[in-house]
Amino acid sequence: MDSEELMARARDVETIGISPHDIMLSGRKAVVTGGGGGIGQGIALGLARFGASVAVLDIEPERCTATAAAIERLGSPGLGVPTDVMDAAALRNGIDAAAEAFGGVDILINNAGGVRGGPFVSQPEGSIRRHVEINLMSCIFATQHAANLMIEAGIGGSIVNVASIEGLRAAPGFAVYSACKAAMVQFTKTMALELSEHQIRVNCLAPDHTITPGNRGNRNGPVTPQTWPATDNEEWARLIPAGREGLVEEQASAAVWLCSAMSEYTTGITVSVDGGTWASSGWLRTADGRWIQNP
Ligand SMILES: NC(=O)c1ccc[n+]([C@@H]2O[C@H](COP(=O)([O-])OP(=O)(O)OC[C@H]3O[C@@H](n4cnc5c(N)ncnc54)[C@H](O)[C@@H]3O)[C@@H](O)[C@H]2O)c1
Repeated sequence: MDSEELMARARDVETIGISPHDIMLSGRKAVVTGGGGGIGQGIALGLARFGASVAVLDIEPERCTATAAAIERLGSPGLGVPTDVMDAAALRNGIDAAAEAFGGVDILINNAGGVRGGPFVSQPEGSIRRHVEINLMSCIFATQHAANLMIEAGIGGSIVNVASIEGLRAAPGFAVYSACKAAMVQFTKTMALELSEHQIRVNCLAPDHTITPGNRGNRNGPVTPQTWPATDNEEWARLIPAGREGLVEEQASAAVWLCSAMSEYTTGITVSVDGGTWASSGWLRTADGRWIQNP
């Protein structure tokens, strides 16, 4: 839009407006890493429900197949590409497979990630490197490749990085994970600036506790909740201002908005989808509903 058109639009109150259609993603072509389970699967299905074609890049082949089939049942083209995002070449191949199947890629969701807790001083080198590879390097390499495809096609696009509230605050026991997520937040801002001339928007999600297979200690098995090991997450839930953990659909809603025309002037931000945890900063809600300052 040139400046004359922009001024005309700004002056013309009759034509200015938003439409419910602006949230739709029909004709859009998406890649979701780690899209076979948890938040990634929620986002993959959310994008599909709003009309996008969606490729699921997940390390678990059965999760790829099952999620691609669910996407098709929603009426959108789905593709499962078994991919380990820690292998940069495989990651590029997966994105290429999506571009070939759909005729391009204009949405990238960098969601694959993972964490194992423990004191940093005794964290083995292999574990440190895995944390950096899965949480940060995969986001960097996928962004570079997908952005190049979007620039070549000249169609713009949206990139959404799934960071974490742990990227916004200190996270004892999760030092490297937290550092990677903070780096994702910063990378998002720089990419938003570098890619803006190509109409590619780059934003972040920062979830707090969200009910997922991984969050319930089930990293590889079936994604159906009935099969998850029993866990007691009640105490966490009570420390979230909303009084409960989040749902993958709630992360998906934010992702759909960030990929749609409804957010076309929004880039470089981090959206906290966390039931108010980030806003509460040092304040905690106790199990009996009182507010105390983080000691
Ligand atoms: N669930 C939460 O409470 C929470 C909170 C904050 C941030 N996050 C972030 O959200 C993202 C998703 O988390 P989740 O809880 O849904 O995880 P999850 O473990 O439930 O699901 C992750 C998915 O990624 C896939 N995956 C794992 N390793 C992979 C690899 N090397 N290559 C490709 N795919 C791989 C898994 O098979 C699985 O389908 C992560 O980046 C995580 O850090 C989650």
